[in-house]
Amino acid sequence: MNSIVAPPAQYREITAADMPALFYVRTRTRENAYTLEQLHHLDITPESVAQKLASSFKGWLCAVADQVVAFCMANRSTGELWVIAVLPQYEGRGIGGQLMSLAEQWLWQSGCSRAWLTTDVDTTLRAYGFYRHRGWTDWKVEAGLRWMELFPAAAASNEGSNHASVRGVAQQVAQPHRRARGFLLAHIGGGAPFNSYVDMVSCVNGGEWGSALSASR
Ligand SMILES: CC(C)(COP(=O)(O)OP(=O)(O)OC[C@H]1O[C@@H](n2cnc3c(N)ncnc32)[C@H](O)[C@@H]1OP(=O)(O)O)[C@@H](O)C(=O)NCCC(=O)NCCS
Repeated sequence: MNSIVAPPAQYREITAADMPALFYVRTRTRENAYTLEQLHHLDITPESVAQKLASSFKGWLCAVADQVVAFCMANRSTGELWVIAVLPQYEGRGIGGQLMSLAEQWLWQSGCSRAWLTTDVDTTLRAYGFYRHRGWTDWKVEAGLRWMELFPAAAASNEGSNHASVRGVAQQVAQPHRRARGFLLAHIGGGAPFNSYVDMVSCVNGGEWGSALSASR
């Protein structure tokens, strides 16, 4: 019997060289798709995002078969979870949760005592339930956006449910030379099977990108 071995999900930090892939993803979102022209109008360009990464921002991505399928970025100077995106066909596989965990843990390690984000006010969007599931709570609705916040205790409580998996991904990112082993462990440890190819359709959610875009509607 033939069996297809699906490629593992690979997690690593974002670099400036990843900008084209991130913008490819960003312009193919499922629930909030925007064009490159719209992003440019909002001063969200590969150059401006690379500049953020060179300052107080940090990001992580997930790749399958060397194709970026999701990413997340946060800002340690403000505590903002700036953006998270998962391709629709990769939703529900724990990828968004792993990326959020990396960002949240980095914010705590950077000295933040509180994290926050902005998202769409529409609570029927998957993102809202995802955030609530992770311990984020409503802060306010302002400027046409929903503002949410997270405190370390709530995040720690949430991480308890999949601690081993989160630890494995953190190890991949922290120790690149051990990535292959980490990927395998993460995949065996609960990842859903992956397709043998990547059909790029994407979804970006929340944060400054989402804020600016929502405000421009
Ligand atoms: C929100 C998003 C980042 C989640 O990513 P994901 O990879 O699908 O999430 P995960 O598979 O990691 O789910 C993590 C957990 O959240 C839970 N979850 C996800 N969506 C949920 C929901 N709507 N309600 C309750 N729980 C939810 C999952 O069950 C999972 O729980 P578990 O870890 O206990 O099993 C992703 O769906 C996405 O990018 N959505 C589009 C973004 C969007 O809505 N943009 C528009 C607003 S700007």
